[in-house]
Amino acid sequence: MKYHSDKSRRRFLQKSLALGFFYPLAENVFANNSVKTKRKDERNQAVHPLKILILGGTGFLGPQQIAYALNRGHAISTFTRGKTKPTTQKDVFNQVEQLTGDRENNLEALRGRKWDLVIDNSGNREKWVKDTVELLKDNVELYLYTSSTGVYYPYLGKDIREDTKPVLKVPEGITPIQKMEYDYGVMKARNELTVINGFGKDRAIIVRPTYMIGPGDNTDRFTYWPERLSRGGEVLVPGKADDPVQYIDARDVAGFMIRLAENKKAGVYNAVGPASPTGMHAFIYGAYAAFSSPISFVMINDHEFLETHGILDQVPWIMPVGDNAGSALVNNARAISNGLTFTALAESVRDIYDWWHSEAVTEERRNKLVSGNASLMKKEKDLIAEWRKRK
Ligand SMILES: NC(=O)c1ccc[n+]([C@@H]2O[C@H](COP(=O)([O-])OP(=O)(O)OC[C@H]3O[C@@H](n4cnc5c(N)ncnc54)[C@H](OP(=O)(O)O)[C@@H]3O)[C@@H](O)[C@H]2O)c1
Repeated sequence: MKYHSDKSRRRFLQKSLALGFFYPLAENVFANNSVKTKRKDERNQAVHPLKILILGGTGFLGPQQIAYALNRGHAISTFTRGKTKPTTQKDVFNQVEQLTGDRENNLEALRGRKWDLVIDNSGNREKWVKDTVELLKDNVELYLYTSSTGVYYPYLGKDIREDTKPVLKVPEGITPIQKMEYDYGVMKARNELTVINGFGKDRAIIVRPTYMIGPGDNTDRFTYWPERLSRGGEVLVPGKADDPVQYIDARDVAGFMIRLAENKKAGVYNAVGPASPTGMHAFIYGAYAAFSSPISFVMINDHEFLETHGILDQVPWIMPVGDNAGSALVNNARAISNGLTFTALAESVRDIYDWWHSEAVTEERRNKLVSGNASLMKKEKDLIAEWRKRK
């Protein structure tokens, strides 16, 4: 099967890479803060308050880390260029010290300052991570690097654990699409090593999330499903019933990261959900539980048909073939035994839906998800008709 020759896959990869993804106390010093929603794992606890620097903080994961950490009584500084505006948890930012600079060439705001923990969300260039590790290693106790399960590309294992050796060099003679995937994974893996070498393995926490989902998601990938399932009717579901899928609510990653740091749990963790192995059909039924619109599913379970029609992924489903065979077979046992918890899927889906239909998201962006050229919704009726004809 010529999996890597498809335009839609390339568009998906380009978009993901442009966003830098592939594909985480003592008395409450903010006792009267205005953080709105307290989820069950967010209760204030008597832990030692930390001074936390977040490199980034205003995209997708960052606002959730800030909300969670403030609720636990920690103090937060962020470091950004001041360009990206958060689309969720906006009300937490008035309790944050917002430092401005540029990882490319201006780290002045960080110089001579001390923190207990740095969380590096924006470390998507090797030079950036080298520079901050060098600058902060004598002034900060712990470095938490937000990596990715992308380090495991090509995903050839059936139960991918943290001790799997990531590829550290992009091989020669590969297709442009493979190169994009390798570039991201190799960059993340090399940055992990920079952190571990610079801070030492007892002061380095590496968290590798799979596809993150939740309010504030800036990738517009998983959001397809809350939108599509809410509309009901005849829904095209690509993939075989047991094609594995993995995803993780960014709020679960955020809480997990903060708790790892509170407990000084250095090491490498796959931040991957759901709790138990899940196939595509179980995922769809679980996600639909957030809604009540009349619905029927057209399960297109023939990989060849899907590939012929350019349907190679609809996150969290990625056709599990070739180099992607094991992309949703990443083991989460170590993370669970160190405190990773999971939001119920229907709750994530409902929250994403509510956020997506709030003023945080523009009409133009919403329309693109439904009727943009790359949208499965746009092609759905025709594909279902083709599928029926074929059968
Ligand atoms: N989304 C997923 O499914 C997924 C999965 C696995 C791993 N990841 C990883 O998760 C991490 C978190 O991404 P996120 O968007 O959620 O993080 P975030 O911290 O919420 O947002 C990214 C931040 O980086 C800042 N930034 C960008 N360029 C910068 C520069 N040159 N200098 C200083 N700051 C800069 C942005 O602010 P300004 O633009 O204002 O500078 C923004 O605050 C990423 O490393 C990504 O690779 C994501």
